Amino acid sequence: EQTEKDGFEHFMLKEIYEQPNAFRKTILNRIDSAGKNIVFEGLQLSSEQIHRLDKIFIIACGTAYHAGLVGKHVIEELTRIPVEVDVASEFRYRRPIVTDKTLVIVVSQSGETADTLAALRESQRLGAKVLAITNVPGSSIARDADEVIATVAGPEIAVASTKAYTSQLIAFYLFGIYLAQVKETIPEEERKVMIEALCKLPEQTEVVLQHANDIRMYAEAIKGHSSLFFIGRGIDYAVALEGSLKLKEISYIHSEAYAAGELKHGTLALIEEGTPVIALATQTELYEKMASNIKEVKARGAHVLGVTLEENIELHRNVDDVCLIPSAMALFTPVLSVIPLQLISYYTSLALGNDVDKPRNLAKSVTVE
Ligand code: G6P
Repeated sequence: EQTEKDGFEHFMLKEIYEQPNAFRKTILNRIDSAGKNIVFEGLQLSSEQIHRLDKIFIIACGTAYHAGLVGKHVIEELTRIPVEVDVASEFRYRRPIVTDKTLVIVVSQSGETADTLAALRESQRLGAKVLAITNVPGSSIARDADEVIATVAGPEIAVASTKAYTSQLIAFYLFGIYLAQVKETIPEEERKVMIEALCKLPEQTEVVLQHANDIRMYAEAIKGHSSLFFIGRGIDYAVALEGSLKLKEISYIHSEAYAAGELKHGTLALIEEGTPVIALATQTELYEKMASNIKEVKARGAHVLGVTLEENIELHRNVDDVCLIPSAMALFTPVLSVIPLQLISYYTSLALGNDVDKPRNLAKSVTVE
């Protein structure tokens, strides 16, 4: 097992560091030589079918569901097709509005999650085409789906998903741009710029990983706390949910992710002197709104770690600690901003002496109901 860990102490840390290459492999062969178009070999969904779509459902469980929340922002922004995201175990037991004009995207690292597989079959029964984003091409979900986009993250061993999640985001970027290309919802020049920005993400992730040690110190500071909050707006809120789940899964510290604008509707009451708050502020258009939410929690004594883009100097003055990520397009920041959150949960779990790779009560893949 030690050799499989490539010198890393845990699979989770190894997998965190494998992310840049997982992105490169997931992008490989999916961009034409001119760097202008997305190509999906084997995708049968016709242009006519894409033009007919009036709704997209994204269905998944756990971390894959959180990737779907980012996917919604990406697809809606690039194509203006309405997207609904649902937890598979909810979707399958209600009467979802699915027709032959709906595309259902199921997301699953393992491709074996029972609820996601059942939701896939139910969607097909209702007449929808199902596209699977999965890391295991031979899995049950890949076999049953009408279309497959494989993430090429390689085997993920640690129960807490890292590289599979971020590779799912890459798959959503590729597919979102592809849909926009077919539907001509963004100009060709803009598409080219997006594709270039997408190709920079592996290198930018390497830059974030170089600062892993600063995060280690932050983990030491929060390990004694019993509760923590993650806040963000828009796409940052989706990342906050994933950061919070990751921390709970392996450190067993209670945490909550909140849409920053919702704080004043209740949760603000839970912020006390010293409560750690991780504030994601990567969306330039929402900086000011986030700054006022940060002031709200600071006024109640919160200790705030801000995760923001390197050019957002303004935020430094409002937070206690700051974690900077390289400048990136608004839709692409989740890939970079989630890395410090993954590292925070890893180092906190480590500092608490937990079994990082095999947290209590959790399974890597849930193949029963
Ligand atoms: C389990 C794992 C989670 C994972 C979820 C969905 O609960 O512990 O980490 O996100 O299943 O798994 P899937 O393989 O469908 O992505």
